[in-house]
Amino acid sequence: MPSTAIVLAAGEGTRMKSNHAKVAHIILGKEMICWVVDAAAAGGCDQIVVVVGSHADEVRAIISDHYGTQANNDSFTPQVICVEQKERLGTAHAVRVALDELGSVSGPVVVLNGDLPLIESATIAQFVEAVADKSHAAAVLTMVPPDPFGYGRVELAEDGSVLRIIEQKDCTAEQAATLTECNAGCYAFDGETLTAHIGEVGCNNAQSEYYLPDMVQILRNAGETITSVCCKDYREGLGINSRAQLAELTALARDRINLSLMDEGVTFLDPTQAWIGPDCTVGRDTIIWPQTHLIGSTHIGEDCQIGPNSRLTDTSVADNCKVEETVALSVCIEEGVTVGPRAYLRPGTHLLAGAHVGTHVEIKNSTIGEGSKIPHLSYIGDTTMGSGVNIGAGSITCNYDGVHKHRTTIGNDVFVGSDTMMVAPVSIGDGALVGASSCITKDIPAGALALERSNQRIVEGYAAKRLERLKKGQE
Ligand code: UD1
Ligand code: CA
Repeated sequence: MPSTAIVLAAGEGTRMKSNHAKVAHIILGKEMICWVVDAAAAGGCDQIVVVVGSHADEVRAIISDHYGTQANNDSFTPQVICVEQKERLGTAHAVRVALDELGSVSGPVVVLNGDLPLIESATIAQFVEAVADKSHAAAVLTMVPPDPFGYGRVELAEDGSVLRIIEQKDCTAEQAATLTECNAGCYAFDGETLTAHIGEVGCNNAQSEYYLPDMVQILRNAGETITSVCCKDYREGLGINSRAQLAELTALARDRINLSLMDEGVTFLDPTQAWIGPDCTVGRDTIIWPQTHLIGSTHIGEDCQIGPNSRLTDTSVADNCKVEETVALSVCIEEGVTVGPRAYLRPGTHLLAGAHVGTHVEIKNSTIGEGSKIPHLSYIGDTTMGSGVNIGAGSITCNYDGVHKHRTTIGNDVFVGSDTMMVAPVSIGDGALVGASSCITKDIPAGALALERSNQRIVEGYAAKRLERLKKGQE
């Protein structure tokens, strides 16, 4: 039976004190909402509805960026759609808006708070399962955090079924003190039962909101049972309402990812000082130095050294590479390449096997051939470079004429002397030699020498004569 996830992301997120949607805040390079949507997808949900409201356009843009639009969603299954909750009347109202949009829903419906980034796909799969055989009308994920303040408190019957959930603001002092099991904001319902009863939720409470947790009592009164699953590790169920919680969950997510990488054979000099996104991979025997950020879809091979002080976004690095103090964005690095310290590799950079990019080098939209070297202080843009090339220190491709970008083509085994300007469009043939400090504006044939600089003058004995003149005050 197909299952649906409804992700609630319309809230104002007032406690974040932000100009952005709460769920747009970034955890290890990925928007909070995407952590939840990805968990729902990995947990086996067949369609996902994101309820947007506050900063709706921003959240919609994130969803369409990551999962495509409704019409153009062939790269990602399940389909993810956004539904707008125009007035924020509470979590039950948000669910009602989603159900209205879906029409009739049968099969399990998992409802997830959008601010629950550490929820695991296995838990979601378990929740789908819990209502799929209709033995329970609903299931609620609970946890026992060290500080339950702010969470809805779960009152359980002897048999472990859920009696009701009381929001913090509606608790008596005694309930707040004694009910330590909390509602994590992840529920599963039988779709038909949910649709039949969601309209019964009222708003007679401290916040005058339609609370989704009130479904528990409504279903019980209708003779249904509601089961609960308690998180083995309460951290999975923590929500984010403030910047402090954002920082806390970022650290937890970081630890979870780095621990699992260590389990797979990755060395960290200090696992608290490396921030690796959930969609990154790192091969065994790779060493991650402190202050390393791996973001988006970044993949590191085996036996590499990455960092310190490096940020790699959507970048792939093959085996046996060393990338030190480098920023790389959408870059492909093949086997045995060394980069840095202090290189800036911009989108479209492709470093072929054994290439070397040294210190204070910037490369953009260029292919650097096998074993080619750009060791010091260079800018290479819009260039196709063959293998075995050596680019002398301080050499630059002048790819921009103020209006257009132009390409530079460098053949195999070319030697470019230091401080060379290559004014594009220009091409340098295989095996050519360029004298240091040349400004190259014309194509160089294969095997030729190109030299563009004025002749050097020698004036014998000049230095001593000048010094004498200076001392006499003549100069
Ligand atoms: C909610 C639960 C609480 C639980 C806690 C877990 C309710 C009433 N309370 O409280 O029992 O312990 O989560 O973290 O559900 N949202 C909408 N539309 C709205 C209101 C909220 O889409 O009208 C979304 C928010 O964007 C958020 C989620 O629902 O992602 C939860 O709302 P939030 O205000 O954070 O609820 P809590 O007070 O944390
Ligand atoms: Ca919350």
